[in-house]
Amino acid sequence: MIDVSFICLELLHYRNRLRAEYSVERSSSEFERQIVVTGGAGFIGSNLLLYLVPRYPHYLFVNVDCLTYAGNLSNLREIENLPNYRFEKVDICDFDNLKRSFERFRIDGIIHLAAESHVDRSITGPAAFIQTNVLGTFHLMEIVRESVSAGRSIRFHHVSTDEVYGSLEEQGYFTEATPYKPNSPYSASKAASDHLVRAYHKTYGIDTVTTNCSNNYGPYQFPEKLIPLMIRNALAGIPLPVYGDGGNIRDWLYVEDHCRAIDLVFHKGESGLTYNIGGHNEIRNIDLVRLVCRILDQLVGGDPKEKLITFVKDRPGHDRRYAIDASFIQEKLGWKPQYRFEDGLRKTVQWYLDNEKWLSDCISGAYLQYYQKMYQNR
Ligand code: NAD
Ligand code: TYD
Repeated sequence: MIDVSFICLELLHYRNRLRAEYSVERSSSEFERQIVVTGGAGFIGSNLLLYLVPRYPHYLFVNVDCLTYAGNLSNLREIENLPNYRFEKVDICDFDNLKRSFERFRIDGIIHLAAESHVDRSITGPAAFIQTNVLGTFHLMEIVRESVSAGRSIRFHHVSTDEVYGSLEEQGYFTEATPYKPNSPYSASKAASDHLVRAYHKTYGIDTVTTNCSNNYGPYQFPEKLIPLMIRNALAGIPLPVYGDGGNIRDWLYVEDHCRAIDLVFHKGESGLTYNIGGHNEIRNIDLVRLVCRILDQLVGGDPKEKLITFVKDRPGHDRRYAIDASFIQEKLGWKPQYRFEDGLRKTVQWYLDNEKWLSDCISGAYLQYYQKMYQNR
């Protein structure tokens, strides 16, 4: 008897091989632009590639990512076979390998997102943050500097965070002119990388733009960050750990709105400038967690999820409030968020419900060990 599934699989492999060969041919000449996105397998990076790759079929996108615990290539299934997408498994801390990887293309744009990104991890193990966020960014800047001095033209878009500005009191907003006052090893390492990018623009004339964005939420966020962690725990019926008194405030932005802003700044931002990006969605952690619980109650029913809320020991150096003044990017580039917070949050919760397999795949042995380490003494 003929095994139909085997034949289908073989045909699929054959189609993919053809596509891959076809795209290799196309890479050198046909694409109008060749753009590296670092960290494209992470939360924002994969949302960005899912947004950009189909929109710019005349650009080649090269995803440079070493796949740490936070990198998940399955996020990119929808685009992985498109002819204008490539993946390069490269650690940005490994200069020689990174350089070899760049030599395979004619890169004229870099959107740099690769980073260690979780504040709690930076408190227990800051070294990886200095390596990737500072040294990795330095390596990229050096490769750009060499290429530019050889006559090439490259735009470097550095994706950073509002956390570099430190913590706000009850009033006021972060603007592009707010002095840097980072309080965690994560934010200090991002601040250092922002300074390097600025210095390479001022000293070597490199074409750079930097964006400092507030907290993102949406699909594909690793369930160590607040919103997916709460969804995951609520579904598992285990405690929802709120740090300190739950009164810390974050300014939440739906990830797709961030991706639209990156697209705009990369293409139209003025060289050497910084753009703050934020949603004007300030909410206390405890109120956000209650809102997630209410949405889950409506969508899945069962015991009220709020009963699971547990106040735990605070994070050391925990910033009290972040809030972005995004008027500069709005005035200069016409960007403003399209998602209302309640809609974005509902869509996000629904996504995690529809993708429980993605969530459970994330919750591998490594994640559980990490989880134990973070929460056992709280
Ligand atoms: P993430 O942790 O989900 O993803 C980081 C990605 O970088 C992963 O795919 C990982 O494999 C990759 N990576 C890490 N170290 C690397 C290395 N040495 N070499 C190559 N790849 C490496 O992060 P995210 O939340 O998607 O954040 C992306 C960027 O946006 C970061 O620079 C972060 O500072 C910034 N940012 C994040 C937020 C947010 O709310 N998540 C807000 C503002 C800015
Ligand atoms: P997080 O998602 O880690 O982002 P960041 O620290 O970069 O802002 O945390 C968002 C907020 O939620 C922050 O004030 C810390 C708090 N938090 C909790 O209360 N409990 C948790 O389990 C986590 C992960 C975060």
